[in-house]
Amino acid sequence: MTARSVPSEIAGVAIARDVATLRAIVAEWRAAKARIALVPSMGALHAGHLSLVAEAKERADRTVLSIFVNPTQFAPSEDLGSYPRPFARDIEAFAAAGGDLVFAPDAAEIYPAGFATIISVGGPAKAGLEDKFRPDHFAGVATVVAKLFNECRPDLAVFGEKDYQQLKVVERMVRDLDFCIGIVAAPTLREKDGLALSSRNEYLSPEERAKAPLLYATLVSCRAALRDGAAIDVALASARARLANAGFGVDYVEARDAETLAPMAEIGRAAIRLLCAARLGKTRLIDNIAV
Ligand code: PAF
Repeated sequence: MTARSVPSEIAGVAIARDVATLRAIVAEWRAAKARIALVPSMGALHAGHLSLVAEAKERADRTVLSIFVNPTQFAPSEDLGSYPRPFARDIEAFAAAGGDLVFAPDAAEIYPAGFATIISVGGPAKAGLEDKFRPDHFAGVATVVAKLFNECRPDLAVFGEKDYQQLKVVERMVRDLDFCIGIVAAPTLREKDGLALSSRNEYLSPEERAKAPLLYATLVSCRAALRDGAAIDVALASARARLANAGFGVDYVEARDAETLAPMAEIGRAAIRLLCAARLGKTRLIDNIAV
């Protein structure tokens, strides 16, 4: 193990840049019988992330935020290079939310030379939703989340329902690989007009921003139609057409088993989740709601 370095500090929040420092701080907390929560993030914090921190603080004595823009979950065509990295602002927001420690490693700390192990994911990771458009994304997510879990060894970790397929992939991985970590699902935070908060919303032009709330509105209408007894394929086809007519490039609008994400031909007893992804210009938006 590398030697622990002295953690730096911004706004009273300690910042660990390496795994040894993170482990040393967490070990001291654990020795004092503290319950520890991890909020994994890629930074560019908005109110949605801060609501995850609030969930963590309700359930734990100490809250760690990881900030790492994980290269293995980006395809070469995606926005890894331009992904927003407002580090000092993030730390200040986390400090104001009452967080304790930020783990902000660089890529070489997480993926040192010779790194050669990637988690192979199935089940909800191969549901034909995000994975259809981002084939290696969830293997990258699962790998980095597993590493963060091993590095921090939290009692619980908080994930947003906004990335619903990711949440189900992480829950599956925790069960399959016997991580002793509770996964807390936090509800999606929305703008007043319904748009789900996302770091990528800042890529939207004013015209696209004005159109973007239609994504959520369409999911809500689709849910109403299903609750009124519409056939699933009819309700989904109408939702896709509504978005396409408004100028969205529709990747998918699907109704899935809320747990396994398997397709559903008809409404039965299992809980249903409506999930969608659509593009406005260069920005890809995702959203989902319970039926
Ligand atoms: O949801 C995210 O921000 C990322 O996918 C995560 C979970 C931090 C892994 O890089």
